[in-house]
This record gives sequence, C-alpha cells and structure tokens, in this order.
Amino acid sequence: MRLSRYFLPVLKDTPAEATIVSHRLMLRAGMIKQASAGIYSWLPLGYKVLQNIEKIVHEEQVRAGHVPMLMPTIQSADLWRESGRYDDYGQEMLRIKDRHGRDMLFGPTNEELITDIFRSSVSSYKDLPLTLYHIQWKFRDEVRPRFGVMRGREFLMKDGYNFDLTKEDALHSYNRHLVSYLRTYERMGLQAIPMRADGGPIGGDYTHEFLVLADTGESEVFYDSAITDLSFGDRALDYDDHAACQAVLEEFTSRYARTDETHDEAAFADVPEDRRRSARGIEVGQIFYFGTKYSEAMGATVQGPDGKPVPVHMGSHGIGVSRLLGAIIEASHDDNGIIWPEGVTPFHCGIVNLRQGDEATDKASEALYKSLVAHGMEPLYDDRDERAGAKFATMDLIGLPWRITVGPRGLKNGVVELTNRRTGVSEEMAPEQAVEKVAEIYAPHHETVRAAMVQPMDKRSFHTWI
Ligand SMILES: Nc1ncnc2c1ncn2[C@@H]1O[C@H](COP(=O)(O)OP(=O)(O)O)[C@@H](O)[C@H]1O
Ligand SMILES: [Mg+2]
Repeated sequence: MRLSRYFLPVLKDTPAEATIVSHRLMLRAGMIKQASAGIYSWLPLGYKVLQNIEKIVHEEQVRAGHVPMLMPTIQSADLWRESGRYDDYGQEMLRIKDRHGRDMLFGPTNEELITDIFRSSVSSYKDLPLTLYHIQWKFRDEVRPRFGVMRGREFLMKDGYNFDLTKEDALHSYNRHLVSYLRTYERMGLQAIPMRADGGPIGGDYTHEFLVLADTGESEVFYDSAITDLSFGDRALDYDDHAACQAVLEEFTSRYARTDETHDEAAFADVPEDRRRSARGIEVGQIFYFGTKYSEAMGATVQGPDGKPVPVHMGSHGIGVSRLLGAIIEASHDDNGIIWPEGVTPFHCGIVNLRQGDEATDKASEALYKSLVAHGMEPLYDDRDERAGAKFATMDLIGLPWRITVGPRGLKNGVVELTNRRTGVSEEMAPEQAVEKVAEIYAPHHETVRAAMVQPMDKRSFHTWI
C-alpha cells in the first residue's frame, strides 16, 4: 500500500473524550470513528488489524478441531422465551419489533440459537463430540459504554459452543478451549492469564476468564506472580489427547489467580508473600462449562449408546475480538504511539522515503517495495511529499514494528536504515539485506499459519468436510 492512496485520517490533537491510551491512540491513528455511543466505524487501518486478529482466532479454533459457521445478528424472541432468558436478560438486550409486530432482538450471545440448530439436526451420540463457533457482531446495551472498543455496545465476539455426551467429555472440550486460547493470545503478543471466575447462578468451578494485565483494566485481579513466568510457546499438542490437555489446564490454573468476584483472602494468604500481586486486568475471553442448562430447557437430547435420550453437556467460550485491539495497545505502546506485535500488525514494514521526488530515492524506495512484496510482505510506503519528521511521526503513531528509511545520503554508500519500533535501534545495511532481515523476522509467523492449517482427518474434522 502506498500512503498517498490510502485512507489514514490521523488526528493531530488528542481527542478529549478518550480517557485511556488505547482509545486515544486508535482515534489518533485513524483506526476507528465513533458512529454513536459505543458503536464504531472501523476505518481501513483499524479494520485491517481487526481482520488479522479474527484470522488468528479462526486458525486456532480450526486447529483445535472446532467448526466455523455464521449465525445472524437478529434473532427471534421465541427461542429466548423457551430458555427463560428473554425476561432475565433485562435492559442490556436491544429489543426490536418487525413490521408484523413480532418480537425480535439483536443477539447479545447465541446459546439459544445454537441449541436450536443442534436439536433440529443431531440425534445420536455418534455425532458427538461437536464444537461449533462463529465470529459475529453482538449488541449489548451497556449502561456505560466507554474506553472505545473495550466496552462497546456493538462489538465483535468469537463465541463457540461444545456439545458432548458426558460431563467428562465436556470438560475435555473445556480444556481444549483453554489450550487454544493460550495459543491464540500468545500469537497476538499478549500474555492473557486464565483466572478463576464466577460461575454465576449456575455455579461450579468450570469457568475461567483470560485477563491481560493493564492499569486501565476494569477488573481487579489477585495472583501468584509465578504464573507470569508461564508460556505455552510452540508446543506440539494433540487436541484429542485428554491427558495432555488436562495437564495444560493444571499447569496454567494451579497457581492462585482470581478476579475480585472469586477472590478468597484465606487462600491467597497461602501464596508466598513476595509473590502475592494485586493488579488490574482486561478480560479478553472466558470459557464456561454449564452442563445441561440449555439442553434440558430446550430439549437438546441425543440417543445414548443404550438407546435412551440424554440431554447433551454444553459449554460456551468467548473471545472479545474487537476488545483485543484495545487490550493489545494498552499492553504495547509508548509516548509516540502504538507498537504492534508482529503477529497482528496491519503492515509488516513501513518504508519512509526521505526525499520524495528525488529520482534515486524514489527508485530505491520503489525497488524495496517490490522486493518486500515479492517476499510475501505487505509494506506501507510513505510516498507523500512530506517532511521527514512528519513521516516518522506517522509511522511511530500507527506502530508498524519495522521501518526502512531511504535517504540520498545512505544511498550514496549503498545503504538504507532498518529501525525497530520497539527498541528504536537502527542499523544500516544494503537494501536487499534489509528485505531479507524483515522476511526472516516474519518467517516464524508465516510458519505458524501454515502449521495451523494442517488438520488431521480425524473424527472432529470429519464434521468440517460433510
Ligand atoms: N461490551 C463489550 N465490548 C467489547 N467486548 C466485550 C463486551 N462485553 C464482552 N466483551 C468481550 O467478549 C468476551 C465474552 O463475553 P462474556 O464473557 O459473555 O462477557 P461478560 O464477561 O461481559 O459477560 C469477554 O471476555 C470480552 O472480552
Ligand atoms: Mg465474561
């Protein structure tokens, strides 16, 4: 992409309505524009990052054997009356009447709709286990939408639903989600800690929220600092291996880590004092096993091995896709702007031409651009007729992790400058060497994508192909 042909409406001034850094930077970098309270238009740069995040979520869900689909945003009230939640949901639900006077709603979540789909087409235990998911816009009429995309009214969520014959199988599905979430967040450059959450009226220990530590987080959290040393990395793990998934759950949840809703001073006191931490966190996802709550209310049963009907065990698992942009920026920025982790960056590398219109620098910049593209990169070339300072400021603001600067002085010696956005360290090298280096940096990310796409033809993926 050439900046002269892009749509990047950066703001010079800090918008007064934005109180936290991610909101400010998203507005300043021309990523979003508020359409009305808690509802945003995604401008090209913001949309690009949103798509990158969505792609990682898809890849890791498919890798775990979960099956993508898409349900509508508008739902009929009838199903919600069946589950008993139409009245319970309260004012957060946006209720609509169609021209025939029928009660409709803008879905805040999809348990009812998915259970209806399941019960109308799955009748035998032989079709289990099954996990269906989608990434779709949700609407919740929050009392206080704030912090930009962090607490919106309209927001993008991945929500997945598992259907299993037994509680034991459903807990394996729970563990599988936990593992896939660890992978998902790490690929985005985030550390998201699974913390014991409140099971709500259904109760039980089987819910964890994933929290990114940040001062601006809305949740108060308490944890054993040893947990922050854990990382999943690029372990090979067979998602069908119950014991292996259970071991990951134990590894990541055996230390004390809870939100204020489940915090227990007595249990916290058992953590060595020098490792006790209280902080704030941003909830970027939640997994939940809720047993037969919806399957019983809505008659989602399958015929068991003995021929008798049994209600299926279910769970639902959410990732706050649009909120993640805010969370990533909260975790990764400096005074000059955003610093995108390589896994989600909107462009792999920026090119700054220090003297636009100069034949040699124009030619060298064009050649670099083409070479990066030939290496599978997507560069953003600042080809505007602007001062160098303004070009650097824009690049820093929008946060591309790598920048190549092309100027007449360097070119005389056959070099360009490669700069790391995070460290600010610059290195001079031949243009082709810079391209090679950038390609090398992104190689592991491209490798992860390829690996995620390789699926075993097992029982779970069977569902994908029929
Ligand atoms: N109003 C919102 N704006 C943006 N993201 C949200 C909002 N509400 C929930 N999310 C995201 O969706 C994920 C799954 O939603 P859920 O756990 O049902 O929400 P909540 O914890 O608010 O009840 C949350 O972990 C969060 O990341
Ligand atoms: Mg939640």
